[in-house]
Amino acid sequence: MLKINNLSKKYDDLLVLDNINLEIADSEFICLLGPSGCGKTTLLRIVAGLEEATTGRITLNNQSITGPNTCIGMVFQDYALFPWRNILDNAIFGLEMKGVDKETARNKARKYLRLLGLERFEKSHPHELSGGMKQRVAILRALLIKPEVLLMDEPFGALDAQTRNQLQIELLKIWNKDKKTVLFVTHSVDEAAYLADRVIILSKRPGRIKETIEINLPRPRDRTSMEVNKIRSRVLKTLGAEQEAQA
Ligand SMILES: Nc1ncnc2c1ncn2[C@@H]1O[C@H](COP(=O)(O)OP(=O)(O)O)[C@@H](O)[C@H]1O
Ligand SMILES: [Mg+2]
Repeated sequence: MLKINNLSKKYDDLLVLDNINLEIADSEFICLLGPSGCGKTTLLRIVAGLEEATTGRITLNNQSITGPNTCIGMVFQDYALFPWRNILDNAIFGLEMKGVDKETARNKARKYLRLLGLERFEKSHPHELSGGMKQRVAILRALLIKPEVLLMDEPFGALDAQTRNQLQIELLKIWNKDKKTVLFVTHSVDEAAYLADRVIILSKRPGRIKETIEINLPRPRDRTSMEVNKIRSRVLKTLGAEQEAQA
């Protein structure tokens, strides 16, 4: 269980997050939406232990999160791969940090690269790959350390619609196998309605939890179904109101 209690964050005088309370069950898939600048990335960075909260507390299975640790994996929008490392060595970066020796780590990574259809590219460098392929490697790198929680910050935001849909399907497949807790930030209402068990909408800055929408629909979901459409319109309505309030 990941628990966020009375969490607030200030940068000097700027209040970015205001009293966030959230309990996320093991293996729950949460999508987090909210206007630009409302503190989504900040929240993820605090959960990852990369940033300190001003007040409040975050616990994972009753243990406080006080710094970066291998229970938590993170995937960013811009892939954050090392340009000088080939795909295989990018994938094993987290394992190396954990002290796993290179050959063991490489063999583990190769298994997954095969699953993702990337085995032919293990010696390629990031600039030789498409955005979708790079993001597959970044997801693989985060998952190889076997985190309990996977944090994803607009991971598919830079991809074209087709690739994005494909990666959503692949992500759900992986998630179905390992059932990690996922906290996924997105601007896409479609993506949230397709992926989430629960959608959390933040207000404009300072980010407060504005609305929570449970989605009890089986997967894989039909993106064009009436039920999914209903979820979309609920999310759009709340988001629209926040966007207007900001304008
Ligand atoms: N290191 C920082 N120092 C000062 N202000 C910051 C810092 N990081 C983020 N901010 C500010 O906090 C607010 C929220 O940023 P962010 O979490 O990136 O929003 P979002 O991801 O929802 O778009 C923004 O106004 C941003 O300028
Ligand atoms: Mg952000």
